[in-house]
Amino acid sequence: MSGIVISFEGIDASGKTTQIGRLETWLRERGFDVLVRREPGGTELGERIREILLDPRWRVMHPRTEFLLYSASRAQLVEEDLVPFLQREKAIALLDRYYDSSTAYQGAGRGLSIKEVEHVNRFATPELRPHLTFFFDLPLTEARKRKGLQSREMDRLEASNDAFYERVRQGYLTLCAKEPDRMVRLDATLAADAIAERILEEVKKLLNNHRLDWRAD
Ligand code: TYD
Repeated sequence: MSGIVISFEGIDASGKTTQIGRLETWLRERGFDVLVRREPGGTELGERIREILLDPRWRVMHPRTEFLLYSASRAQLVEEDLVPFLQREKAIALLDRYYDSSTAYQGAGRGLSIKEVEHVNRFATPELRPHLTFFFDLPLTEARKRKGLQSREMDRLEASNDAFYERVRQGYLTLCAKEPDRMVRLDATLAADAIAERILEEVKKLLNNHRLDWRAD
């Protein structure tokens, strides 16, 4: 497989989706074949699993059940979409969440064993590690403020409490410390342009390492 995988992580409302769109445009303008997928979901089966996961009716879903549903959605995404796509020339997959979300939310957040979560993560995504992962670090108070502006109904996960989100954030920070070559922490309180610039800097480095020319014609 010759393609590149870049994942985007962080708590809700941290600005991931905007930045993914910007990077997608930048890459397409330079002739890359880009696939954007969001988790949970991304495939038809995965979207069905997503509906279950975000449905407030399942308030008492056990953390293990939750984790396995996320993993099932991810396994489908890998086999159905990512593996075939990454065979193509100049292929770059941009993932709005990937297995680090499970390590942070189900592991650090819900208290499942990190070791066991990482084990299942590997099982669900054989050989498919991201080359680069951006962690959008946003203080909870700021995320809440942004969410208030959006006024959409709280889904099952967003109804979780502040202590949970703080554990999730710490989970991500631990990953950044553990895998500094792959994980890049971004200050998500910065202006969108500044964040985009920082992302491009890292992506250009990655493309250079893979000897892929990123200069537009
Ligand atoms: P979504 O509405 O897509 O949130 P966001 O825009 O922040 O990505 O909902 C995804 C939710 O699922 C989000 O709260 C994080 C959670 N999640 C996990 O708990 N574990 C996982 O493995 C994944 C992929 C997501």
